[in-house]
Amino acid sequence: MIKKAEYLKSSASYEQCPKPDRPEYAFIGRSNVGKSSLINMLCNNQKLAKTSAAPGKTQLINHFNIESAAKEKAPVTKWYLVDLPGYGFAKVSQSSRRRWEQMIENYLRKRENLTQVFVLIDVRHKPQQVDIDFVNQLDKWEVPFTLVFTKADKEKPLAIERNVNAFLDVLRQTWQFLPQHFISSASNKAGREEILNFIQEKNAT
Ligand code: GTP
Ligand code: MG
Repeated sequence: MIKKAEYLKSSASYEQCPKPDRPEYAFIGRSNVGKSSLINMLCNNQKLAKTSAAPGKTQLINHFNIESAAKEKAPVTKWYLVDLPGYGFAKVSQSSRRRWEQMIENYLRKRENLTQVFVLIDVRHKPQQVDIDFVNQLDKWEVPFTLVFTKADKEKPLAIERNVNAFLDVLRQTWQFLPQHFISSASNKAGREEILNFIQEKNAT
């Protein structure tokens, strides 16, 4: 359970990030996929990370200080949660896209305390090349990641299953092992316990 969640800092590069003295979990995915909303849902605080109906809201590497415990009276673990700017937003210029790529690549490859990356994918869509490319890139960089299919409240269960399987099928064509995945909704809190338990277990090992 989350005991404390507070905004810490926004950084324009990985060098400016806070001291890497605790486990770190980052959320990334296409613009507008629901990264900031998922963070708020996990932390039970709608005002923590800024969300927006217009894509491209999050521009920097945003660190949040989190304190959590497995149970009410269990010892508290401290970790960072990170909200990252999205990719795949059509309306950005070449130069700002390159800036984003450089910032994100450096952060993902060099951030030494980065424990796990959650790659968010909108469950309403068929597999999108930009998402496939991104997870292949993470795999190549050996960055550990988990998939989270978002906005599950907007789809029927059968369509969710179809889209999740279609995405995993694309990966299966070239991958030997499939990444773990969760299904979430910021509106009805689906996936909240599973994702927090996953983080709690990682922190304990
Ligand atoms: P950028 O920072 O711009 O990359 O976007 P983001 O990925 O952080 O998305 P954000 O959390 O700002 O959400 C984008 C829009 O989707 C907002 O209008 C949210 O209210 C909506 N949204 C996010 N998650 C969900 C969800 O699980 N269900 C529904 N119905 N809407 C959602
Ligand atoms: Mg955001």
